[in-house]
Amino acid sequence: MYRITVIPGDGIGGEVMDAALTVLDAVDLEFEFTLAEAGDGCFRRCGETIPDETIRLVRKADATLFGAVTTVPGQKSAIITLRRELDLFANLRPVRSLPGVPCLYPDLDFVIVRENTEDLYVGDEEYTSDGAVARRVITRAASERIVRFAFDYAVGDGRGGVTAVHKANVLKKTDGIFREVFYEVASSYPQVEANDYYVDATAMYLITQPHEFDVIVTTNMFGDILSDEAAALVGGLGVAPSANIGKKNAIFEPVHGSAPQIAGKNIANPTAMILSTALMLKHLKKPQEAQKIQEALERVLKKGVMTPDLGGTATTSGMADAVRKEVLEL
Ligand code: NAI
Ligand code: MG
Repeated sequence: MYRITVIPGDGIGGEVMDAALTVLDAVDLEFEFTLAEAGDGCFRRCGETIPDETIRLVRKADATLFGAVTTVPGQKSAIITLRRELDLFANLRPVRSLPGVPCLYPDLDFVIVRENTEDLYVGDEEYTSDGAVARRVITRAASERIVRFAFDYAVGDGRGGVTAVHKANVLKKTDGIFREVFYEVASSYPQVEANDYYVDATAMYLITQPHEFDVIVTTNMFGDILSDEAAALVGGLGVAPSANIGKKNAIFEPVHGSAPQIAGKNIANPTAMILSTALMLKHLKKPQEAQKIQEALERVLKKGVMTPDLGGTATTSGMADAVRKEVLEL
């Protein structure tokens, strides 16, 4: 029995969450779902975008599914607060082509592991007499745990190589430490090939020779940018899942936001959310069930059952029902 906290959120968040739960329900595992609130709707109801009760429910769950929220200006970001409070230091972004989905490369399969807690995103900025300055924080401890996570992931997922991405030629101290720690950790994984690239070259290679990558590990901001670039290679926001993983807790969410323009129309693409649940099952050490969802989804896409963003005519719930049916048949 797995205790799953479910945060549908706003806009299409609830629609893609319903779709994902429809699929998950067909898997032969026992779940206890607990609903939790966050986002704009939550703010209107209770005055907070991320109530303590939600944080508590995420903390005590085996895993959490997060749909998407609408940002409320001037209020705390729900997902950033959760990442920080629960120390979800690893952001995992699989990049995988799907059959039938229009994309630049039909046969890509790699993963980006992004450090999620430091770098320029510590938000330590100040104005100076002439402009502003931001501090870029890179610690050995955070570098080591993200690099270790990447190598452990590579081993667990049967992947042969890990590439560190950095800019140590210019950021000699911060990224110098990141690269140094990378090779220190790499030495205890002799079975995994280790190499490193500069971030600017990586941005180019992602377009020109993306098959070269297996696992990429990188600092927070480079990971933010490269993972969006990589998502575009395989079909964009509607199909990009992600995981935020810490020592004790984990949250699985599509990369996209609440897409208010298409909310309430039953046309949102549930693929990213469904793939996020598969990532969750993998994290819960149920790789066969995760694989079932992945395969069921691929069968459905292969038949051309897809939402308008991918050029199809399927509805969100229609796609969910089709995937559910395939899961039951597998
Ligand atoms: P968005 O990801 O919601 O939408 C960007 C574009 O992609 C829109 O054209 C949208 O229609 C389309 N799109 C996104 N997901 C789709 C799906 N599943 N199926 C079909 N089309 C899809 O980003 P946007 O418009 O910048 O932000 C909307 C709201 O979401 C904002 O309040 C933003 O702050 C928030 N947001 C929340 C995130 C989260 O909850 N983690 C992440 C990104 C944005
Ligand atoms: Mg981003």
